[in-house]
Amino acid sequence: MEDRDMKFDTLAIHAAEQHDQNQSLNSPIYMTSTFTFTDLQQADDTFSFKRRAYVYTRGGNPTINLFEQRMAALEGGADGVAFASGMAAITSVIMSFAKSGDEIIAHRNLYGSAFGTLKHLLPDYGVRTKFVNMTVPEELKEAITENSKVFYLETPTNPSMEIIDLETVVKIASKAGIKVVVDNTFASPYLQRPLEYGVDVVVHSATKYISGHGDAVGGVAVSKDQDYINKLKFGYMCELGGVMSPFNAWLLLRGLKTLPLRMERHASNARKIAHFLVKHPLVERVMYPGLESHPGHEIARKQMKDFGGIVSFDLKGNLERAKSFVENLKLLKLAVSLGDAETLVEIPALMTHRDYLEEELIKFGFLKKTIRISAGLEHPDDIIADIKQALEKVS
Ligand SMILES: Cc1ncc(COP(=O)(O)O)c(C=O)c1O
Repeated sequence: MEDRDMKFDTLAIHAAEQHDQNQSLNSPIYMTSTFTFTDLQQADDTFSFKRRAYVYTRGGNPTINLFEQRMAALEGGADGVAFASGMAAITSVIMSFAKSGDEIIAHRNLYGSAFGTLKHLLPDYGVRTKFVNMTVPEELKEAITENSKVFYLETPTNPSMEIIDLETVVKIASKAGIKVVVDNTFASPYLQRPLEYGVDVVVHSATKYISGHGDAVGGVAVSKDQDYINKLKFGYMCELGGVMSPFNAWLLLRGLKTLPLRMERHASNARKIAHFLVKHPLVERVMYPGLESHPGHEIARKQMKDFGGIVSFDLKGNLERAKSFVENLKLLKLAVSLGDAETLVEIPALMTHRDYLEEELIKFGFLKKTIRISAGLEHPDDIIADIKQALEKVS
């Protein structure tokens, strides 16, 4: 069966399947840094592109390539580039589009290190970023100048769970000749495929739902443009050196096989958590796009298959109450990261999002006391029982 005839769930297991000489079911892990040549003639043929072969794992490796091609099939792209981490993917893609003097327009709420890179690191290299509220298209249009080269966004956003209309953003970008880069980590390709809306590049922290087991750090970028992928792979990933380990590629391939099943359960657990929280007297606000009261609910319905596995919320009262809540949880783990089998809880402003100035948080859609839950795969009754007992302790 050809890849193009397969449904998503089948692609997650079989896309770009390689036929191994030993007929192994799973891809071997090519845990090698280099590949040998029989003689100098073969080396010369390889370096002069007369012969296609692997040379050095930073430039290409069969296990990593399989992961890249499988991700490309799932996102509906031509090809992908794997990176050592999600941040390596994000910084490489941004650097591939924005040079000194150029400007990036980013959504106001982003993962903390992405925000930190744009706000603090890139200005040293002459690349400035304007943070706008992309849920308001007028604000995005007004921010464009002749130097604007990239729109950079997450949807849903981390941790405010804001939803940005991909169709609208792409329309504005294509009129102005601007590239659109979307971090699809929170949705995964099972729930949302931004390339179908005309987005130029999708990036992921593969560490999260792609892995699903909290045991590998990795990143990936996918595009429909094969020439761009070649440039990103050989001009940026390979030169800057943020290469993925073949072992991690193998772990991520293993994770991908169950992505559809896991995403269904993450999403249904998150829905149950959100509905429990919204009715609880101690809860001030729940940020979850599956709630009809969420301002992005209709857009999320349009562009996502389900609303994802993350719920953020504020308790009534001060930060001390939020701290006490997370410290009273027993089953749920206090940890950064998300998308794992275990339900993980954190206070972003104190942990992953410390780069946001306290007085600016409200502008970026969350508060110092905002709590983020990554719904795991445990039985929902057990997750909710733990949340309930922790809330009883702080009331
Ligand atoms: C939305 C999002 N993008 C990117 C990253 C960075 O990924 P990594 O930790 O794999 O570098 C994270 C990490 O939490 C994230 O949540």
